[in-house]
Amino acid sequence: MATLASHAAEPARYTHWSQAIPKDAVDHIPGEHGLPVVGHTFSLLGGPHEFTRKMQAKYGNIYRVWSFGRWHVSLLGAEANELVLFDREKIFSSEQGWGPVLDQLFPRGLMLIDFDHHRVDRRALSIAFKPGPMRHYAGSLNAGISRRVTEWGAGEMEFYPAIKQLTLDLAAESFIGLPFGPEADRINEAFVYMVQASVAPIRKPLPGTLMRKGVKGREFLVDFFTKETHRRRAEGGGQDMFSQFATAEREDGTLLPVDQVVDHMNFLMMAAHDTITSSATSLVWLLARHPEWQEKLREELRAVTGGEGRDLDYDDLGKVDLTEMAFKEALRLIPPVPSMPRRALKEFEFEGYTVPAGTTVGINPQFVHTMEEHWDDPRSFDPMRFTPDKVKARHKYAWVPFGGGAHMCLGLHFAYMQIKVLMAQLLTRYRIEVADGYQPEWQAWPIPKPKDGLKISLRSL
Ligand code: HEM
Repeated sequence: MATLASHAAEPARYTHWSQAIPKDAVDHIPGEHGLPVVGHTFSLLGGPHEFTRKMQAKYGNIYRVWSFGRWHVSLLGAEANELVLFDREKIFSSEQGWGPVLDQLFPRGLMLIDFDHHRVDRRALSIAFKPGPMRHYAGSLNAGISRRVTEWGAGEMEFYPAIKQLTLDLAAESFIGLPFGPEADRINEAFVYMVQASVAPIRKPLPGTLMRKGVKGREFLVDFFTKETHRRRAEGGGQDMFSQFATAEREDGTLLPVDQVVDHMNFLMMAAHDTITSSATSLVWLLARHPEWQEKLREELRAVTGGEGRDLDYDDLGKVDLTEMAFKEALRLIPPVPSMPRRALKEFEFEGYTVPAGTTVGINPQFVHTMEEHWDDPRSFDPMRFTPDKVKARHKYAWVPFGGGAHMCLGLHFAYMQIKVLMAQLLTRYRIEVADGYQPEWQAWPIPKPKDGLKISLRSL
């Protein structure tokens, strides 16, 4: 009897995201189910930001809603970000938070492993972001961006598809070491299918579905990266990110297993691609809307590079403060990862509520980035919010476009570098303009993008 009683009292353990919590487990937390069966899934998909604002006004900084077949508890505010991202008590699983979206196509990537395993692999992969390799990527980014920006030429264009293609081509070169051409195109095509499938509504790879194309794309890339890992280990010497991963060692001096190199590489390409595309697009949009800031950046970049279309060298990346601040402001207003999911592996408290183990929770950078308690006039574009004094005076977790804590974006310096090089190549050649009154509609989910592709004009200076 005693054994049974103590066994019954043991808290449930959650080891996979598909294990459901009891239906009434979060009833004590304010919130609502929404429609029968689907709950608030469609409200979230249709307008996540408006929905969050409405729920926060009604329930406060912690509330539950039923969506995507389970209860989700939202935790809002800088304190919530710190609790979840810094995760002092090792409560929150990124693997089980992201699992439902990414597990099928990007399994075992860094965001899909936790704690000790994650720490060891992340450390090994960090080698690809040390100054030596970064200097090499800076060279290929300057060359690739300069070539493409010249090809774009003056005139009207849709910026989003153009930067998406450029980012794909650059990734083939800097990440995999492949020159532009048919092989890079095949890799890119397989990769695009995988990304599309990861957010496709039909989750089974039935004939004709996006998921089927994604699964096929994954098979192709797994095969390619597996063969290439062996080749690069045998030949050595590659400067690209993938070659760094292929030869990365853990603390005990062992190489990462080949299948794990492959999984990390697939995941990294996904993590880098749409995020850079989205943030480059929002920066270009905001600079088109704020020509006075465009001019300030242009002057800064000309002074540092020496004039039109010159390279922004790796050693000069730290000298373009205004450009960096403008980028940070774009990431504040339109964060490419607007919310981040986790699963609580242990019970925890937030704002007086006990949240049980097994609950899926989410934090929301998009919401915190426009909270009036952290930001004056939060809707306006003002890069001066990011002077060192202002940053120091603010809650550290009020601005989290790259996350924070153990899973903080591994590629953030790469992202800064690509954006700075892009600005140096673009703004020293052209003025970016949009038609008077133009206001593109942004699709909020899964990653923000302008629905019409962002119609801009480049005018030669
Ligand atoms: C503006 C561009 C980018 C933004 C806004 C961004 C944002 C993020 C965020 C928010 C996370 C953490 C998600 C979470 O904790 O749930 C993350 C993780 C990650 N990002 Fe980025 N990212 C960007 C670019 C890149 C690039 C260029 C790379 C690679 C070259 C990259 C590689 C990664 C990786 C590997 C992780 C997983 C880290 C881990 O779990 O330890 N990201 N990113």
